[in-house]
Amino acid sequence: ARSSLCSALMAASYNTGTPDLVDFDWETLGFQLVPTDFMYIMKCSSDGVFTKGELVPYGPIELNPAAAVLNYGQGLLEGLRAHRKEDGSVIVFRPEENALRMRIGADRLCMPAPSVEQFLSGVKQTILANKRWVPPTGKGSLYIRPLLIGSGAMLGVAPAPEYTFVVYVCPVGHYFKDGLSPISLLTEEEYHRAAPGGTGDIKTIGNYASVVSAQRRAKEKGHSDVLYLDPVHKKFVEEVSSCNIFMVKDNVISTPLLTGTILPGITRRSIIEIASNLGIQVEERLIAIDELLDADEVFCTGTAVVLSPVGSIVYHGRRVEYGGGKVGAVSQQLYSALTAIQKGLVEDSMGWSVQL
Ligand code: COI
Repeated sequence: ARSSLCSALMAASYNTGTPDLVDFDWETLGFQLVPTDFMYIMKCSSDGVFTKGELVPYGPIELNPAAAVLNYGQGLLEGLRAHRKEDGSVIVFRPEENALRMRIGADRLCMPAPSVEQFLSGVKQTILANKRWVPPTGKGSLYIRPLLIGSGAMLGVAPAPEYTFVVYVCPVGHYFKDGLSPISLLTEEEYHRAAPGGTGDIKTIGNYASVVSAQRRAKEKGHSDVLYLDPVHKKFVEEVSSCNIFMVKDNVISTPLLTGTILPGITRRSIIEIASNLGIQVEERLIAIDELLDADEVFCTGTAVVLSPVGSIVYHGRRVEYGGGKVGAVSQQLYSALTAIQKGLVEDSMGWSVQL
């Protein structure tokens, strides 16, 4: 019944003059959940083979209380963005990278994963089914959230007997509440985001549950987010709760080396490639907090945050400011270059955008 309702709704939206865009106040977009029309579901049972997925109306999914994801956190998330071009068509940024990253994370958590083709097909179908939710050009983008969860029921700690791949979407604007204004970070001195040999380098859902307490503490003190240091020396910069970090010093860009505790961000990689193409020297290496505090510019990258300039960092009670409240020149140059590709404003010489 659910899938025939879905077919009917889709036929209605494709054939009977449903407007290209929903009636929505696009000016209010931030990074909050806005329910959209459809989501994509694909399941696989103990044979490890994902069967054909389907679009269903967006809404709650049913889970057994003994599902592995609910009890033991066997789950992964991904995040991508799609933009509406002036001609009305939609482009998605580097979706294969997300598909591949999900496969690596799934391997670490003993989960079967959709093939790259299955992942791309699910993502494309979900975007197209919700096309009227892709914000008008210049007003934001569609955030796509694929999930892979151990949905099968079990009691002891073991891989789940059944898995579900879900894709839902949401129109979004800026991640941080003040838009593109430089953010303020508080260095976290008690908790760590990830430990050597742990799961800091995959997008497992538990990595995000464990950062909200420090994040709340930082927000209560007026900061935008938390900056984590390495758990062994408490000295080297790792990442922010939901994004990677970069510094610029004497026109050289540096970002923490992927030592296993840092998420290999797709925006991180894209910024490294864009900067290298622009002839800027880029280094992936260990960065001591003292070096970061002495940088000319600092910025964060991620699918959700895109590129967010950092205006200040507080470390051991000492506050360091960058750029006098303004976006630094290198950060601005990289932001413009990245978003021009993501929005389809320039020729995509990197071959990163997938046109729907
Ligand atoms: C993303 O940047 O897409 C993320 O997954 C971060 C998210 C936890 C807000």
